[in-house]
Amino acid sequence: MKIIVIGATGLIGKELVKALGARYDLVEVGHSSGDLRVDITSKQSIEEMYRKVGAFDALVSAAGGAAFGPLDGLSDEDFARSLRDKLMGQVNLVRAGLSAVNDGGSFTLTSGVLAREPIPGSAAVSLVNSGLEGFVRAAAIQMPRNLRINIVSPPFATETLKALGMDESTGLPVRSFVKAYVEAVEGKHQGEILDVRKWQ
Ligand SMILES: NC(=O)c1ccc[n+]([C@@H]2O[C@H](COP(=O)([O-])OP(=O)(O)OC[C@H]3O[C@@H](n4cnc5c(N)ncnc54)[C@H](OP(=O)(O)O)[C@@H]3O)[C@@H](O)[C@H]2O)c1
Repeated sequence: MKIIVIGATGLIGKELVKALGARYDLVEVGHSSGDLRVDITSKQSIEEMYRKVGAFDALVSAAGGAAFGPLDGLSDEDFARSLRDKLMGQVNLVRAGLSAVNDGGSFTLTSGVLAREPIPGSAAVSLVNSGLEGFVRAAAIQMPRNLRINIVSPPFATETLKALGMDESTGLPVRSFVKAYVEAVEGKHQGEILDVRKWQ
């Protein structure tokens, strides 16, 4: 199975590469490094990546930024950037990849628990994560050729909380995220939100 990992050089992506790379043929895609580079905020860049990769069996995305900040402090550009990057970036990975993925293949995207468990400062992130989950539910009922689409919802990684100087006790180590992604790729899930905390 040939699997494209978007965000392969990131905190979550590196763990995915370790876990999936042992068993599958991976195309590791980053933004500034990796086997291939893509800018998911650009449809043209995404299409160019798919042209280079050719046919594939699964795409796993662990990329996409969204702005964090107080509701009255988030600017128009903060919202626009969040929608363009994490939301439409991942939506366009699916839209542009539909014609290149092999029959029975799959797409696995990433949202986050802030979709349903907001915290102060998460308005744009929660908006984007909820939008992605809605997209996945709707796309799943329209998938041709036995294709599947799912989304993994991680909590904060302890590594991320530590880097932000926040309380680490509410997070999980990033290595524990992998099981949900592997389940989405190898299982029979369709249109599901796989909450990492339930796949430990
Ligand atoms: N970490 C957490 O606690 C956590 C929790 C819940 C959800 N998430 C979500 O999980 C995803 C990955 O998080 P992470 O912590 O692993 O992030 P990260 O360490 O910052 O890694 C981001 C990855 O995405 C790539 N990337 C950045 N901008 C891109 C662009 N415009 N086009 C294509 N690739 C791009 C980066 O490539 P370069 O290295 O080349 O820049 C890197 O490989 C994000 O959507 C995040 O919101 C993370």
